[in-house]
Amino acid sequence: MRAKIISTGSYLPEKVLTNHDLERMVETSDEWIMERSGIRQRCIAPAKQACSDLAYEAAKAALKNAGLKGKELDLILVATCTPDYPLPATACVLQDRLGAKNAAAFDLNAACSGFLYALSVANAYIQAGVYKRILIIGAEVLSKVTDWEDRTTCVLFGDGAGAAIVEPTTEDRGILSIDLYADGSMGDLLKIHAGGSRMPASKETVAKKLHFIKMKGNETFKYAVKTLERLVLETLEKNNLKASELTLLIPHQANLRIIKATAERLGLPMSKVLVNIDRIGNTSAASIPIALDEAVSTGRLRPGDYVLLEAFGGGLTWASALIRW
Ligand code: ACO
Repeated sequence: MRAKIISTGSYLPEKVLTNHDLERMVETSDEWIMERSGIRQRCIAPAKQACSDLAYEAAKAALKNAGLKGKELDLILVATCTPDYPLPATACVLQDRLGAKNAAAFDLNAACSGFLYALSVANAYIQAGVYKRILIIGAEVLSKVTDWEDRTTCVLFGDGAGAAIVEPTTEDRGILSIDLYADGSMGDLLKIHAGGSRMPASKETVAKKLHFIKMKGNETFKYAVKTLERLVLETLEKNNLKASELTLLIPHQANLRIIKATAERLGLPMSKVLVNIDRIGNTSAASIPIALDEAVSTGRLRPGDYVLLEAFGGGLTWASALIRW
């Protein structure tokens, strides 16, 4: 028994923040941001829109594309590092809004690798015969944990959500392999210091901006390039597949230079790589499902195609999935 993605959906907030807008907010330039990251603009949620609001729109689209109702779901899994609340889980907020009263629901946090971690959980439940219809979502509102005076992070992140519905299949396609990794010893490279039980939110933590995301960008960059180059080669080798047999590489959209380095290591032309970082920036756990939905809706993936997904993020965590569409 294999697990197969039967439908996808995504949602981006309406408001677009361009590099030129950022030039008026911090000391930066369109040229620097484009050259170093490949980002031209990102979408930003309004003050009243939380993680579950974005997730709801993406989930509704995935359900519609599958011709399903919320009550037909067995499990809802939300991958996010920007949940609505510490408690309850965003997946439970969503379960209520979707009328998915027959579904179990929980959140999972693996930062930018979150969607692939969620996909592996869905895959395992389906292979074990525990659940038959699982909604997985990557949803983030990183704008809410961004220090808009810190030019080293505020130019990178964007908000959005992507969803997929996973079901069992007996066909010769679906999820062929998923590999997950983590290195907690490097957790300080990408961190939100306050707001958890280590350093509960207080006047002082807010004054010191410790509830915002901090990243040692250059060190993270080097670790990501080295790790992802190895990861994609290992994934193909494990599946006895040549890079030339891939229809598409869908990388996490953190940095165009990282994406190009990975594609180059595989010998893949950029025409076989889905890139939308220029339009939406780094949406963390939402990045891969948004890109996947774009690939499906623009006809870049057809039944039988091989697609490789890969991600790297806070934790540190990284993951890959090989799918025969
Ligand atoms: N505008 C102008 N100058 C800037 C900006 C900015 N927005 N930000 C930093 N700089 C300056 C720095 O201060 C530094 O100046 P200095 O040399 O005088 O000290 C210089 O530019 C170079 O800075 P670096 O950080 O070395 O630049 P780098 O080439 O590494 O690019 C970037 C920075 C884009 C952040 C890159 O390191 C990166 O993409 N890192 C990886 C991100 C990633 O993959 N994260 C994991 C996923 S995210 C998640 O899990 C939520």
